[in-house]
Amino acid sequence: MPDRSTSSEPTETPVTSAPETPTVARKIYPIVKYGDPVLEKPAKPIAKFDAELEELAEDMFATMYGAQGIGLAAPQIGKSIRIAVVDVTSGKNPEAKIVLVNPEVTHGEGEKREEEGCLSIPGFRGYVIRPHFVTVKAQNLKGEWFEIRGEDLLARAFCHEIDHLNGILFLQHLSMLKRDLIKRKIKKLKKQGEW
Ligand code: NI
Repeated sequence: MPDRSTSSEPTETPVTSAPETPTVARKIYPIVKYGDPVLEKPAKPIAKFDAELEELAEDMFATMYGAQGIGLAAPQIGKSIRIAVVDVTSGKNPEAKIVLVNPEVTHGEGEKREEEGCLSIPGFRGYVIRPHFVTVKAQNLKGEWFEIRGEDLLARAFCHEIDHLNGILFLQHLSMLKRDLIKRKIKKLKKQGEW
């Protein structure tokens, strides 16, 4: 989803008296780029809600933050399963972390046209019309169903990530002209070994 390239704030000097929080080394996955067929096929529903899935979600957050993204879907790390993570605050607010398992958009309202990008299509952006508000139904990491509403950027992120789980990229929402232009440029980059 749209990358948010705000410069990171300077790290504060650690307070020595603060209790040490145990840090788990997270796996940072390489992000699959446009051209890999995994990005263009529907992902499989998830049926097993275990510790492994929890680990995967945390690794996906770490991978997403590392790439300065605000959303990441499993196909983008080469896994064709229906899980996506979203955080429109780019890690600034831990409460903004959203995990969507087997999600579906159940309601959309209004329209908003904004520029969008994708971690799997780095360097390219395009205007996409998305609903202004959406309601999403999904399971959490325990397998419990919940509903969540999103507005503006959050609605856009939900739609973009759920599209990924259906094998759809934002390119498909662009005009044919714009889409072909981007595809041609990517082809050229591939030829030059830069993709
Ligand atoms: Ni994307």
